[in-house]
Amino acid sequence: MRVFATQYIEGLKEDQEELKKQGIELTWHQDNNILTMKELSAIAKDNDGLITMLCDNIDATFLKQNSHLKVITNYAVGTNNFDKETAAKLGILLGHTPDVLTHTTAETALTLLLMLSRKINHAQKSVYKGEWNTWEPTLYNGIDLRNKTLGIIGQGRIGKAFAKMAEDLWNMKILYYPYKDHGTSSEEFFEKVEVVSLHCPLTEKTKYMIDQNFIESMNNPFFFINTARGACHIEKDLMQALDSGKILGVGLDVTDPEPMDKNHPLLGLENVVIFPHIGSATDRTRAQMTSICLNNIVAAKEGNSLTHPVR
Ligand code: DGY
Repeated sequence: MRVFATQYIEGLKEDQEELKKQGIELTWHQDNNILTMKELSAIAKDNDGLITMLCDNIDATFLKQNSHLKVITNYAVGTNNFDKETAAKLGILLGHTPDVLTHTTAETALTLLLMLSRKINHAQKSVYKGEWNTWEPTLYNGIDLRNKTLGIIGQGRIGKAFAKMAEDLWNMKILYYPYKDHGTSSEEFFEKVEVVSLHCPLTEKTKYMIDQNFIESMNNPFFFINTARGACHIEKDLMQALDSGKILGVGLDVTDPEPMDKNHPLLGLENVVIFPHIGSATDRTRAQMTSICLNNIVAAKEGNSLTHPVR
């Protein structure tokens, strides 16, 4: 079995020999650039399996051109870059990396929220710019998170993990957005929530859901955090709401598109923190994500169900 990874991921070199003994020939893209789908399609022709990144668009066209593939496993928990229906029809197994990145990604949401509520980004920049002249009683005063109401959109593993962190740290009251028939009523959510954090997959239902309409439905000015997918929000609507004061601060680990344009107006605002999609970026988590991808590949080679299939 021949398998190609579209980027080098932690641990592949170490596992290459062992996999060879199991009859799996593993190679990877040698540069840092993202392969075009045309380039990937050409490479896929000589392979039976792929390890893909969340930026590889594995759509119906690609899958139909490469229906010989046995398995494609995503180095991410999110799978919005996969056309699942077409893969199922073609009998291509799809895998991903849930669980191991839950805590790490929830921690990223927590970091964004804390940076916003305590104005850390701006305060830190002022020191580097030589603007720290003296101690002042109101210098970069933030907002206490203690006892505030957190609205979670996406009641999955990461949403629940972040909710637990917010409860433990700040005694926050948690309300889940009524999504997939779970959660509170939308009336209660819109009335009470003071921080909105997105943890849902990107689907037709969640695409651009944080728009002007959603923002206007919120009763309180709120912080907005997104560690899910950039296309779940509309950036120009976030801008407008920051301008009007309806949104107090925006913390994004994901943007639409990625990477964000370096001249994007959001980058010029004090109450905005943007990370370059590093939700799961710790050495240990990334190594565990590699192991899952390789376990999926071995399972496919043996003709077994994937250890971490996309459902
Ligand atoms: C994923 O794995 O889908 C997330 O984007 C992690 O940040």
